[in-house]
Amino acid sequence: MTAPRLLAFAGSARPGSFNGKLLAVATRAARELGAEVTPLDLRSLALPLYDAEIEAAGLPAGALELRWLIATHDALLIASPEYNGFPTPLLINALDWVSRVPATDGAPAGLAAMAGRVAGVMSASPGPMGGLRSLGFARQFLHNTLGMLVVPEQFALVQAGKAFDEHGALIDPKQQQSVQRVVAAVVRVAGALKGR
Ligand SMILES: Cc1cc2nc3c(=O)[nH]c(=O)nc-3n(C[C@H](O)[C@H](O)[C@H](O)COP(=O)(O)O)c2cc1C
Repeated sequence: MTAPRLLAFAGSARPGSFNGKLLAVATRAARELGAEVTPLDLRSLALPLYDAEIEAAGLPAGALELRWLIATHDALLIASPEYNGFPTPLLINALDWVSRVPATDGAPAGLAAMAGRVAGVMSASPGPMGGLRSLGFARQFLHNTLGMLVVPEQFALVQAGKAFDEHGALIDPKQQQSVQRVVAAVVRVAGALKGR
C-alpha cells in the first residue's frame, strides 16, 4: 500500500476549537500510520459567503487554492461542529465554492477534484451527542452530492470540554481508539486506491 496524502481541516476556526483539537489527534494518528498530512485552517482561505455576484466578478483565490489542495491529496480528514444539527457554514461554504471552480491550468474542475476523493468525518461537541446528528448530513453532502468515498467509520466526541488533557490528547482510551478506527479506514482506502 502506498502512503496516502491527507488534507485535514475543521469546520470551526475558533481558537481552542474542540474540533480543531480532535483533528489534531486524528492527524497524529494518521502520521503514525505513515500518512502525510497537510493541516488546513479554512479561515485562512478568506472565502466570502457564496454569492453569484462575487463569482461573476472572479472566483476568490481561496476557492482555487482549496480546489488545488483537494486535487493534490488522496483523502480528506474532516472534523466539524454541529450547528443546529448540521455541519457548519464554514465547511459547507468552502466546498460550495470549490464546486464552482472550472478546470484551469491543468487542474481539474472542483467537482471533478472532489469526486472519488476518500473522506473521513468526525465531530466534537460539549453536548451529550457529540454532533452525531450532523454526521449524517455531512455524509450525504460529501458522498451523495459531491461523490466522495466517505468511509463508514465515523466518530462523534461527546462532552468535548472534558475530553482532552493539557497536551491535547484524548483522556479516554476508547475515544482514542475510535479516532484511530476512522483514521485507519481513511488511510487504508486512500492508500489502496493510490496504489492503482
Ligand atoms: C449556532 C450554533 C448552533 C449549535 N448547535 C449545536 C447542536 O445542534 N448540537 C451540538 O451538540 N452543539 C451545538 N452547538 C454548540 C457547539 O457544539 C459548540 O459551540 C462547539 O464548541 C463548537 O465547536 P468548536 O469547539 O470546534 O468551535 C451550537 C453552537 C452554535 C454557535
